[in-house]
Amino acid sequence: MSDRYLKFVNTPVGRTAAQSLGLPSPVNLKRWKRADQPFIEGDVLVGAANGSKAIAAVGSLLGASPAKLFHASAVDTLNDSSKSGNKAEPLPLNTDTDRKFSALVFDATGMKDTTDLRAVYDFFHPTIRKLAGNGRVLVIGQDPATCRQPAKAAAHQALEGFVRSVGKEVGKKGSTANLLWMAPGAEKQLDSSVRFFLSARSAYVSGQVARIGKSTEAPATNPVAPLTGKVALVTGASRGIGASIAETLTRDGAMVIGLDIPPAMEDLQNVMNPLKGKALACDITDEKAPVQIADFVKEHFGGIDLVIHNAGITRDKTLGNMPEHFWDMTIAVNLTAEELIDEELMHQELLRENGRIVCISSISGIAGNFGQTNYSAAKCGVIGYVEAMAKQVKHGVTINAIAPGFIETQMTAAMPITIREAGRRMNSLSQGGLPIDVAEAIAWYCNPGSNGVNGNVVRVCGQSLIGK
Ligand code: NAI
Repeated sequence: MSDRYLKFVNTPVGRTAAQSLGLPSPVNLKRWKRADQPFIEGDVLVGAANGSKAIAAVGSLLGASPAKLFHASAVDTLNDSSKSGNKAEPLPLNTDTDRKFSALVFDATGMKDTTDLRAVYDFFHPTIRKLAGNGRVLVIGQDPATCRQPAKAAAHQALEGFVRSVGKEVGKKGSTANLLWMAPGAEKQLDSSVRFFLSARSAYVSGQVARIGKSTEAPATNPVAPLTGKVALVTGASRGIGASIAETLTRDGAMVIGLDIPPAMEDLQNVMNPLKGKALACDITDEKAPVQIADFVKEHFGGIDLVIHNAGITRDKTLGNMPEHFWDMTIAVNLTAEELIDEELMHQELLRENGRIVCISSISGIAGNFGQTNYSAAKCGVIGYVEAMAKQVKHGVTINAIAPGFIETQMTAAMPITIREAGRRMNSLSQGGLPIDVAEAIAWYCNPGSNGVNGNVVRVCGQSLIGK
């Protein structure tokens, strides 16, 4: 369903009307378009708190992009910004410039205590107004869970509050702000995440924190088709977000098995045929489903690399009015089926080395929602499952979740108009997301370079005002 209000406020008449009535004025988000599109273009400013560890890796990644790179200079707390390499030109922050930046990237990993937070202010205060529309703010800190000193942990935790607030300030221009919490020594694992969060692929991801752990060196991949040679299973692929995931993983080089319930077979074939993927008719709540899926994988590919648990249902009723089959079905589809499918694939040793499991939660699972006790319980259970499994997976396998906010699909088109409009506007970007926004985040998790990204729950919600 199209967002007519978004279209209207992006006309000259609509913009004036919205401004004079004090209504939200969402801007058109720039999404990723071409296979050979660079992850970042335009002018990019980087800075680093003294003693920071990621600035050299970030500088060399950005230095190899077509972006024109500058590093903060002439401020004592930011002296290590020059470690971004010789491709970066010094930019004294105390001089006025008309330059607009497509991204502001700050490495705060050197902060030792809370007084060092001053470097964050010194970098962003003079520059935040120079962030272009559809711009990116990316901050890199140390994962507080890895900080021994409480003062250091506090400083790095503070970055979360900072980034969430910046996201709310820059969202009206279609810009985003996100945080990477890096484990010590995980500089080599930053690449795929920095690329994702600076690119148009993360257009609807803001106010988020991703933890990057230390891992083995990621294999070199073709940036245009990083999933070449991978086999993916996508459940609920006949429409909506699942169809977009199947298309996006295929675009990135994977061979996709799309799965959906038997009545959705015609739609599923229509999605899978142009992708040259395989279609599997299966109700994932059927007790034979895990074995049926495992047998299909074994017969056609001998193993699987990417398992995307997208299939989901809602059966809304307030708790006192909820029939038991609403409860049972919602838990079975959204939660239990995922565990049983993974168990079978692992039991039969079909999930390959460096495999990826991605589950779909929901902001309803984080914040709770009226009339959705069953759905919220299931989607919150997904988070518990991912976090527990992340500690158990072996052989380079990772497991992560996406929690979508309001995404424009048939599921949300069926909502009453007032709830639909509220869902669209109640986020920093004042608009709903598109299925491709969820699919792009899943492709980032699946990237072989994301081998340090494990046990995360990233929301694709335009920084919804609901929940954390
Ligand atoms: P959708 O209703 O358009 O698609 C869901 C797909 O799952 C359908 O193709 C359906 O046939 C399939 N499915 C349902 N039960 C199944 C079963 N037992 N076996 C196999 N396939 C089954 O939903 P949409 O909007 O694309 O959502 C996809 C995922 O994202 C779901 O897990 C949903 O809960 C989640 N989500 C969606 C949000 C949104 O705003 N659209 C927000 C938050 C989460």
